[in-house]
Amino acid sequence: MSFDRTHLRAFEQEGWERAAAGYGTSFGRVTAGFLEALLDAAGVDAGDRVLDLACGPGLAGASAALRGALAVGVDFAAAMLRAARASHPELPLLAGDAETLPFAVGAFDAVFANFGVHHVADPLRALKEGLRVLRPLGRIAFTSWAEPQENIAWKLLFDALEAAGEKVAVKAPPSGGGLKTPGDVLSLLEAAGFEKALVRRERRLWVFASPGELLATFRQGTVRTGALIAAQPGRALPAIEREIARLAHSYRDGGSFAVPIVALLASGRKPCATSTPTS
Ligand SMILES: C[S@@+](CC[C@H](N)C(=O)[O-])C[C@H]1O[C@@H](n2cnc3c(N)ncnc32)[C@H](O)[C@@H]1O
Repeated sequence: MSFDRTHLRAFEQEGWERAAAGYGTSFGRVTAGFLEALLDAAGVDAGDRVLDLACGPGLAGASAALRGALAVGVDFAAAMLRAARASHPELPLLAGDAETLPFAVGAFDAVFANFGVHHVADPLRALKEGLRVLRPLGRIAFTSWAEPQENIAWKLLFDALEAAGEKVAVKAPPSGGGLKTPGDVLSLLEAAGFEKALVRRERRLWVFASPGELLATFRQGTVRTGALIAAQPGRALPAIEREIARLAHSYRDGGSFAVPIVALLASGRKPCATSTPTS
């Protein structure tokens, strides 16, 4: 399917500018559960020069700094960078697009992106940029969400919207990457020129108190999924919440819900000798 990457980039950037204020206390708490596995996959260690790509509020870079790494963050949303600077004033944070990184060839020992690559309009360009800024044998790792069939929090939302939502037009372009299956992710790593490409599933539970909290977290802290909820008229929301509660019955855990979520954790290595372009 062909679509306009300029439109997609603008949709993502505007969306993340809007989502930034509430992200750390909403969806950022869900993505945070994958940080340590991501840093392990990127081989982040004390003294390493590392890049937190699409850093959002900066949590992955801050976790790398706690390991003693020299972390830098980059993101294209000014409001995300403001949130990151407020929480992590010690981190160097730069405004920049993942497709044209403002760093020199070989500047980093490791590059990682926690749920960032699939938001980039051209993920292949982003990974080629990751390759360029890595030193030979440097490592890349990134997470993306697995398909809704295994990502139950998303499945609950989409099924409830289908069953109880109103049929409304949603002005959201398709994502740039998809990256929902291990095959998608491996192909991308290999096309960008990485070797030793690996992908594995990381499983966590998303615990939320009520269907209303799940909806609010998606709405405040995501762009494309948030747009689906925002498009619903307020009068439809109580029925959607009731439908989520019905569908999520088997995930009840005391007074809360504990719902399985699955990330694909991808990693690879820059070959010893590459013909990486210098620009
Ligand atoms: C789901 S958030 C992930 C934030 C953070 N990495 C985390 O661990 O939660 C996606 C982030 O990717 C950033 N982003 C999306 N496309 C980008 C691009 N082309 N260049 C730089 N940042 C981008 C957004 O601004 C947003 O901060």
